[in-house]
Amino acid sequence: MVIRHELPEANWPSAEEAAQALLFQPMQLGPLAIRRRSWVPAMVPWRATEDGFVSAANLDWYGRFARGKPGVLVVEATGIRDIPSGPLLRIGHNRFIPGLAQLVDRVREESSGETKLLIQVLDFLRIRRRPKKADYFSRFMALDKERMAEISDRRPDLANQDEAGLRAALSQLSDAELEEVLSPREFESYSRGYRETINDLDLPEVAELPRTLPKLFADAAERAKQAGFDGIELHYAHAYTMASFLSRLNRRDDGYGGSRAARIRLPLEVYQAVRSRVGKDYCLGCRILGDEVIAGGSRIDDACFYGSELAAAGMDFISVSKGGKFEDAKQPKVGEAVYPYTGPSGLECMPTVRSDELGPFGRNVALATRIRSSIRALGLTTPVVTAGGIGSFELAESILQEEKADLVAAARQSLADPDWFLKAELGCGDQVRRCIYTNYCEGLDQKHKTVSCQLWDRDFAAPGKFLLSADGKRRLTAPEWPNKAED
Ligand SMILES: Cc1cc2nc3c(=O)[nH]c(=O)nc-3n(C[C@H](O)[C@H](O)[C@H](O)COP(=O)(O)O)c2cc1C
Ligand code: SF4
Repeated sequence: MVIRHELPEANWPSAEEAAQALLFQPMQLGPLAIRRRSWVPAMVPWRATEDGFVSAANLDWYGRFARGKPGVLVVEATGIRDIPSGPLLRIGHNRFIPGLAQLVDRVREESSGETKLLIQVLDFLRIRRRPKKADYFSRFMALDKERMAEISDRRPDLANQDEAGLRAALSQLSDAELEEVLSPREFESYSRGYRETINDLDLPEVAELPRTLPKLFADAAERAKQAGFDGIELHYAHAYTMASFLSRLNRRDDGYGGSRAARIRLPLEVYQAVRSRVGKDYCLGCRILGDEVIAGGSRIDDACFYGSELAAAGMDFISVSKGGKFEDAKQPKVGEAVYPYTGPSGLECMPTVRSDELGPFGRNVALATRIRSSIRALGLTTPVVTAGGIGSFELAESILQEEKADLVAAARQSLADPDWFLKAELGCGDQVRRCIYTNYCEGLDQKHKTVSCQLWDRDFAAPGKFLLSADGKRRLTAPEWPNKAED
């Protein structure tokens, strides 16, 4: 049953109380000293240039978060390959370094050096938009003699035609009929768009991933270090390549799939390659899933094993997320690509106020706690980061006080009000613009539109200039604090 949850009342600390709070105490992330235990996790804002370079809008976006002085700010998922990927940041070539270095400078300047800046680096596999029916059957579907014979066996009424005839006949069938005739993979490519998976060992580039990825990640990490980032977060979560290796749905039979030990082999090899490139004095951690949420996917027991192995290998932190997978995502419209945050697993990743009895607030903390306990049981002190519906000081502080996690990440609350951690620390919590957790921002991300928060638009008529969306209807920057004219 869907329950619409109210935002709980927030009791904010005085400046004196905040000074005692664990949230605002320093700690170490391996070799990296951080000023506070507050964390803004990776969020893609769709602001890079079409070629993947840092844009002026990116500088403003990260500079704005930095002014709120979180202990750690993580730059959005940034692609490690030198391939076109639209307005998403890239780090797959040295030409991206100068722009990224500017971003580092901007964050340092705006936070007066108080925020440490990490970059999340990721690899993703090929994905195509959902094709028009006619295009799929006339152009995209692979149809050799053997496949034609198989289809004719299943549907004798379609036999005795040449290839063009069969293609035309298939394009006339209903979806229900096609689901019967096509293989599950063909039906998926037709109805949702073609998506490469790590199980496609017949594709040479997929078979080679264990040989290619360690170097690609290590090269990217070296560039990040050169650009001046304080550390790296390896993206081992959500719908992307490394999370797919960790998934129980990984069926590779090349020593990198099947058992848990084999599934974690590549993530460990990537870690080792990156570590040997950046050295032990550089902060290197990862983000993993506490639960994939999808049918047949990895669960918390798997995640405890992964967290322990990765911590034992030497990760400087483990950040825990949940869900966000392609497998259960909604069918995209024709011409759009499947988006991994639209299904049940996506909702678990970014929970909304329309939820079950558990509600969205701190919903995923228990996963981080379980992983943390497994790591502690090994005698390791690796810090664990939790995220998911954390938007009040009390909740954040209680998580730390009760040792459920070591750092608290807030994505949407920090988007709604990039100053919120600072306001709480200064005893100005009553001025926090509180996230309402209805996912307007996520809807923009889904449409690949520049991400903004609906609450910013309440200050649409505020004095001064601020960036507007292309249609002139949305603010693209958060209102300033203390209230002042923006320039
Ligand atoms: C617009 C948007 C973009 C996101 N992009 C990323 C990303 O690049 N990498 C990532 O690991 N998580 C990403 N996330 C997930 C967040 O980091 C976070 O885990 C999730 O929103 C739950 O935290 P919250 O409840 O504090 O928002 C994104 C979330 C939002 C709202
Ligand atoms: S758009 Fe909605 S869910 Fe997103 S940050 Fe703003 S208030 Fe929160």
